[in-house]
Amino acid sequence: MPMTPLECDMAPAASRQSWPLPRCGLLVLALALATTAAVGSAQLSSESYYDASCPAALLTIRTAVSTAVLLEPRMGASLLRLHFHDCFVQGCDASVLLDDTASFTGEKGAGPNAGSLRGFDVIDNIKMLLELLCPQTVSCADILAVAARDSVAQLGGPSWAVPLGRRDATTASASLANSDLPGPTSSLNGLLNAFSNKGLSSTDMVALSGAHTVGRAQCKNCRARIYNDTDIDASFAASLRASCPAQAGAGDGALEPLDGSTPDAFDNAYFGNLLSQRGLLHSDQALFGGGGGGATDGLVSAYASNAGQWGADFAAAMVKMGSISPLTGTDGEIRVNCRRVN
Ligand code: HEM
Repeated sequence: MPMTPLECDMAPAASRQSWPLPRCGLLVLALALATTAAVGSAQLSSESYYDASCPAALLTIRTAVSTAVLLEPRMGASLLRLHFHDCFVQGCDASVLLDDTASFTGEKGAGPNAGSLRGFDVIDNIKMLLELLCPQTVSCADILAVAARDSVAQLGGPSWAVPLGRRDATTASASLANSDLPGPTSSLNGLLNAFSNKGLSSTDMVALSGAHTVGRAQCKNCRARIYNDTDIDASFAASLRASCPAQAGAGDGALEPLDGSTPDAFDNAYFGNLLSQRGLLHSDQALFGGGGGGATDGLVSAYASNAGQWGADFAAAMVKMGSISPLTGTDGEIRVNCRRVN
């Protein structure tokens, strides 16, 4: 029997299940359109923004992302995170991609980014292709937003229409990267504040945290949790300790999956992990259980049992996050090289 868009919300409870895209595509599309540019003051345009000026833009990005993710599934996670780290610092303006110059220290060397952010080469390759096809037309900030969406879809997650028309910053800020991005030892209140400072609600924060259903974290970012926290499953902690030594040093960069159940699938297993005290980062587990104060427990439980609800909320929150303070109109520029101002 054909499904109506509303049936998406009522998709059968399914823990550990990928987003049932065909059933919910319409609803996600409608949600995404309805929430276009809800956060920033400048207005973004629809996904058809480049249809006349660079008709192959979206296909070019999707093809490059698919290839990169097929070669290395983790790259999908890395590209998604790049967009998050861009948007939380000065807005979604590709400031995160700028290399240091004589006049400013960029964001790449900031605490949350140094030795951790990846995917810059994939973005460079996409930009190079787009400069050949349609010079100085598609912004680096829009490439980041579309690459994030395509990465999630490629890993089995939901999809959404990406509002477009962002322009690129001519400056970056290491200090804002250090102050505005939440850290792995954040408390629930710290997380809620960091997101509310960007115009994002607690529902947005919990839904977006589900991005940690894919990707890896370094030992140094979960060491305190696996050795000191009490709200952690004992056998989970023991297995992590085997690969992440207690002493800072050589083992700092050992990689652990953020979602130990299904590391490379964009599903709702992340939330199920939190119910069983298997969140990898202190900031993950803060969303559920006594340690986090309990304010977001209900939402975590709902997302753990209803992949459809989480997928729809995640897609809507990505559109909101992608609309944080964009540069539009004649502000900023369309960079030729994402690493440098023109
Ligand atoms: C809620 C606050 C958040 C905190 C405290 C946080 C923190 C972190 C940390 C510490 C890592 C591991 C970095 C490393 O060890 O190198 C990480 C990885 C990651 N984060 Fe977050 N994050 C948060 C929210 C988000 C959001 C909103 C998204 C995207 C929408 C996101 C996407 C990712 C992804 C996909 C990875 C894995 C990247 C890879 O494997 O390359 N995170 N995050």
